[in-house]
Amino acid sequence: MSDKAILEVNGEKHEFPLITGTENEVAIDVKALRGSTKGVITLDPGYKNTGSCESAITFLDGEKGILRYRGYSIEELAEKADFLEVAYLLIFGELPNQEQLDKFHADIKSHSIVDDDVKKILDAFPKAAHPMGVLSSLTSALTAFNPSSVNVDSEEDMYNAIVRILGKFPVLVAWTMRKKHGLPLEYGDDSLGYVENVLKMMFKSPNKDYEQNDILVNALDKLLILHADHEQNCSTSTVRITGSSHAGLFVSLSAGISALWGPLHGGANQAVLEMLEAIKEDGGDTKKYMAKAKDKSDPFRLMGFGHRVYKNFDPRAKIIKVAADEVLGDLGVEDPILDIAKGLEKEALEDPYFVDRKLYPNVDFYSGIIYRAMGIPVEMFTVMFALGRLPGWIAQWKEMRMRKEPIGRPRQLYTGETLRPFTSIENR
Ligand code: ACO
Repeated sequence: MSDKAILEVNGEKHEFPLITGTENEVAIDVKALRGSTKGVITLDPGYKNTGSCESAITFLDGEKGILRYRGYSIEELAEKADFLEVAYLLIFGELPNQEQLDKFHADIKSHSIVDDDVKKILDAFPKAAHPMGVLSSLTSALTAFNPSSVNVDSEEDMYNAIVRILGKFPVLVAWTMRKKHGLPLEYGDDSLGYVENVLKMMFKSPNKDYEQNDILVNALDKLLILHADHEQNCSTSTVRITGSSHAGLFVSLSAGISALWGPLHGGANQAVLEMLEAIKEDGGDTKKYMAKAKDKSDPFRLMGFGHRVYKNFDPRAKIIKVAADEVLGDLGVEDPILDIAKGLEKEALEDPYFVDRKLYPNVDFYSGIIYRAMGIPVEMFTVMFALGRLPGWIAQWKEMRMRKEPIGRPRQLYTGETLRPFTSIENR
C-alpha cells in the first residue's frame, strides 16, 4: 500500500503521509493541510471520520465487534480480572502484580476521606436534583478542597492525583444517592474491596448491619469493567479537550461527567428503563413502539439501540446480556420489563429498518435491567456508568498530558453574514 494520500485542490496536488496504527488502521495525517493548501480545512461534524489523537489505551473495531483494553480482550478481562486491576491496567498500561495491586488499593483507601465541608455543598442541592449534575459539581468542587496542581512531569504528583480521585469519587457517588433518599452520609469501610465498599456506602441502612451480597458485588464489578473505557467517545473527548488547556484532572473529569449525562451517551441506560416502563404502562405493545422508532416524523428512538462505532454488535452487550440473565436468575427476580426488552430485541433484530442500518442493542440496553434488579434507582444508572468510566477518563487525561498534546481547538466553516454596516437602534 502507498504511504501517502494525494489531494487535489483547485488543480494543485498536495501529498499527505499515511500513518498506520498497530492494528493496521490507517489515517491520513492532515496536520499540514491548511499550510500547504493556503487555508483549506476538513469539515466533519460529529467527527465521524476524524481521529483526534493517537492512543495506546483502547482498541475497538466496530465492524468486527472487538474491544480491547491495552491489548487484552474485554471478554477475558470481564471473566478473569476485577475492576481495580482493570483500572490499574488502563491507567498504567500493564496488569499489576499482587504487590502493585495491594499498594494501589491501599493508596486509594488512604485518600478516601472527602472533606466534611463538601457535605455543605451537597446540602445546598434540592433533593430533586439529578445525581449527575450533583456529581459533576462535587467533582469540580474537590479542586477547591485539594488545590495542589498536578505537575504532569512528576510521576509522584500524577500518581497522587489519580489515587486521590479514585478514593474520593465512590464516596461522592454514594452521597449523591443517599442525599436523594434522605439517608445519612457514609465514609465507607477500609476493610472492604473497592466494589464491595461502593455498595456498602450506597446501601448501608442506618439501623441495620450491612450484609454483603456476592452476586451484586460480582455483577457490579463486571458492569464497571465493561464501562471502564471506550476510546474517543463524547465524554472522553471532553475530558481530553478540557485537560488540553492544562485544566486540572478533577475539573476535566467533571466536564466528562456532564458530557456523559446526555441521553445519546451515558444517559441512555436511564432512558432505556424509562422507555421500557412507558411501554409497559402503555400495555406492553412492542410493535407500536417499533413503528414509532421507524417513523421519520416521530422523534422517538429505540433507546439502547445503535452505536456510533459498533455496526455489527456491541461486544459488551453480549457479555452483559448473559450477566443480566444470571443476575436476575440468582436474585430470583421476575421482571416484566425484561420480557418487553427481549421482545423489542427480537423484533428489532429481524426488522429490515434496524438490520439495514446496523442497529443492534448496545451495552446500555441491558445494564439498566441489571442495575434495577440490584436495587439501584433509575436516576443513579448514569452515575454508575461514570464510576465505571472513571479509570478510562483518567488514563486518557494522563496520556494526553504526558504526550504533551496541543490545546484542542477545532476550526469551523463560517456560514453567517458577511461584513455589513451597523444599524443604529432607531433604524432597526
Ligand atoms: N432508533 C431508531 N432509529 C435509529 C436509532 C434508534 N435507536 N439509532 C439510529 N437510528 C437511525 C437514524 O434515524 C438514522 O436513520 P436514517 O439513515 O434513515 O436517517 C440511522 O439510523 C443512522 O443514525 P445516526 O443517528 O446517524 O447514527 P449515529 O452513529 O450518529 O448515532 C447513536 C448513534 C447516537 C447511538 C444512535 O444510534 C442513537 O441515538 N441511539 C439511541 C441512544 C442510545 O442508545 N445511546 C447509547 C449509545 S452507547 C453509549 O453511549 C454507551
